[in-house]
Amino acid sequence: MHLSSYPVLGLLLPIACVATLYERAEQLPASTSYDFVIVGAGAGGTVLANRLSEDPGTTVLLLEAGPSNLGVTDAIIPMLPQGLAVTTYDWNYTTTPQPGFAGRSINYPRGRLLGGSTSTKSQTPWLTLVQATKNGTAMQDSRNEKFVPSADGHKTTGQYDPSLHSTTGMVSISLPGYPHPFDSRVIETTKELSKDWPFNLDMNSGHMLGIGWPQQSIDTSSRSSGATAYLAPPIHGEEEPARPGKPAFRSVEYTTADIPTGGTSTGPRTVVSAKKEVILAAGAIGTAQILLLSGIGPQKQLSALGIKTILNNPSVGANLTDHPLLSNLFYVNSNDTFDSITMNGTLAAEDIAIWNATHQGPLVDSPLAHLGWARVPSNPYGPDTTAGPTTPHYEILFANGFLSTTTPLPSSGHFMTIVTALTAPAARGSLTLKTSNPFEQPNINPNMLGTDYDLFLMESAVKSVQKIAAANAWKGYIIKPFEDLAAATTPAKLKAYIQAKAATIFHPACTAAMSPKGASWGVTDPDGIVKHISGLRIIDASILPVIPSAHPQAVIYFLGERGAALVKQKYGIN
Ligand SMILES: Cc1cc2nc3c(=O)[nH]c(=O)nc-3n(C[C@H](O)[C@H](O)[C@H](O)COP(=O)(O)OP(=O)(O)OC[C@H]3O[C@@H](n4cnc5c(N)ncnc54)[C@H](O)[C@@H]3O)c2cc1C
Ligand SMILES: *[C@@H]1O[C@H](CO)[C@@H](O)[C@H](O)[C@H]1NC(C)=O
Ligand SMILES: *[C@@H]1O[C@H](CO)[C@@H](O)[C@H](O)[C@H]1NC(C)=O
Ligand SMILES: *[C@@H]1O[C@H](CO)[C@@H](O)[C@H](O)[C@H]1NC(C)=O
Ligand SMILES: *[C@@H]1O[C@H](CO)[C@@H](O)[C@H](O)[C@H]1NC(C)=O
Ligand SMILES: *[C@@H]1O[C@H](CO)[C@@H](O)[C@H](O)[C@H]1NC(C)=O
Ligand SMILES: *[C@@H]1O[C@H](CO)[C@@H](O)[C@H](O)[C@H]1NC(C)=O
Repeated sequence: MHLSSYPVLGLLLPIACVATLYERAEQLPASTSYDFVIVGAGAGGTVLANRLSEDPGTTVLLLEAGPSNLGVTDAIIPMLPQGLAVTTYDWNYTTTPQPGFAGRSINYPRGRLLGGSTSTKSQTPWLTLVQATKNGTAMQDSRNEKFVPSADGHKTTGQYDPSLHSTTGMVSISLPGYPHPFDSRVIETTKELSKDWPFNLDMNSGHMLGIGWPQQSIDTSSRSSGATAYLAPPIHGEEEPARPGKPAFRSVEYTTADIPTGGTSTGPRTVVSAKKEVILAAGAIGTAQILLLSGIGPQKQLSALGIKTILNNPSVGANLTDHPLLSNLFYVNSNDTFDSITMNGTLAAEDIAIWNATHQGPLVDSPLAHLGWARVPSNPYGPDTTAGPTTPHYEILFANGFLSTTTPLPSSGHFMTIVTALTAPAARGSLTLKTSNPFEQPNINPNMLGTDYDLFLMESAVKSVQKIAAANAWKGYIIKPFEDLAAATTPAKLKAYIQAKAATIFHPACTAAMSPKGASWGVTDPDGIVKHISGLRIIDASILPVIPSAHPQAVIYFLGERGAALVKQKYGIN
């Protein structure tokens, strides 16, 4: 398979249709035709590229907009000083003003390098939470998961259920490898508040609710990403006729783009063709944008921008959904927090040197120490959004330091963060094109906290965190809440605090939803094939019809595995 890891931006070309092309051809081999052309090397694309190229007779081109992950320290060390730097490794997106956030726009990170968002330095860790199906069936995939020891080699008995996990898959998963001063207090909380927050030995058992130890995609001490897991091992047919009446999309054009976004390109343009299929895996933002630019989407929107509609489908870009997050910050009575690292460049450099020399120390972990999942007992706002009584409405994440994208890091002090994030929001937003320039970011409107129900869920989550902070288990440790949380003493102030400080946990999905075959809505069939189009499939977060009430990374890897199996089956590939 061929891998292009220099900046490209893809556009689909309908067969027999001339379009504007942007390209940088010289680095790719002369061949302009492959069995499969995959756009986007994130969670979905890396799995597909790996699995489809298992057959030596099958040619695959994987196009990625960002650079290689190799040697990118930010993508390798699980915990680095917080703050997602806007670099060539990120798309630097900004949302439209969010009414649920009192009109604020927020920064909207998306990975732009091999591995996509699985490679980016993240504020939250990489989890393998997999329960996402309607009937509670765990979507654990033994081809995906490889459980490995923790960095410090500690005994993990009682911290997970080994019988539920595979040790032979591709993505390495481990429990934390560096202890936190409050670990025993978290466990104590599960006893003291056992009704709200029971201890959960393993959230991937199909029973998600409660607090437990996080399982993260960390290969003992380094981030395990789609790129390290599915592309790292050396990467090394017949044409399906277009069905009559269906437009066929089997070509992709690409070029060198200005970095990160907003420019134009004068570079040479390349068109590559797929003998079998083009597979979009550019993520919930990128895939919908490419479809719209290629004339697949709501006709009114496309016409207004001078884009010729090939397929009028109002579902493209509709229903963008994400998980809103809020960082609840507390002063603590400890000197052993990661604030010592984030506030002190000298110590950070020392810890990086330790990681570099020994693969030990505080940087082996993400900032996440523990996590928990819970439901609200009832809600006054209408139908429940969860899949059933064992599915959470929200989650909490304990971090041993000051972790926020909306409140600036103080210059001194020691903190704990208990993040609250909604996992079953009702609000749905949209993705639309701003211009017909493929280098311009689209209008990204996840409609965060866009319903009273969502706000109610977030208020309930914060109240639960306030209850935890007041529990005996935290006496002598938590000193007091930080500024705006401290001020959130009335319902109005609590609402103001949430609207002023909430952000995203980076899980956009649902912009090219799958729906049953023959349904009047939706973008793909259940196998990812784009409805009413020939030669085009989508395998990434955009095809989820509903946002999972869990962290999505493992779900997208699973989609990749399933998608690859379906493609192989269709074309008789081994
Ligand atoms: C900062 C951050 C933290 C996260 N933390 C967690 C977590 O702790 N746990 C968890 O489960 N999930 C987490 N996620 C979410 C998870 O990473 C995503 O849900 C998952 O990676 C989505 O997979 P995907 O294949 O849909 O898209 P991505 O992994 O985003 O991959 C899309 C790829 O396509 C490329 N691309 C886009 N447009 C084009 C184009 N026009 N041409 C060429 N290439 C293009 C992108 O550069 C990218 O490499 C996090 C995400 C971010 C951004
Ligand atoms: C990121 O986007 C912001 C606002 O859209 C812009 O001001 C800034 O220059 C961009 N950063 C980079 C590195 O392009
Ligand atoms: C529920 O999961 C089981 C186990 O995978 C599966 O056999 C069954 O078809 C699923 N039921 C529904 C309604 O999806
Ligand atoms: C949005 O999703 C819902 C199902 O969750 C669906 O009924 C509706 O048709 C979708 N909207 C569009 C425009 O596709
Ligand atoms: C933290 O360090 C300061 C300064 O050295 C010291 O006064 C304080 O007692 C320490 N606190 C704890 C909880 O160890
Ligand atoms: C920063 O870290 C260095 C190295 O550990 C240490 O010597 C120094 O005292 C720290 N500075 C502060 C202000 O804590
Ligand atoms: C990491 O270790 C290598 C040698 O193993 C050394 O060359 C390099 O300078 C180190 N980098 C840092 C940041 O310590």
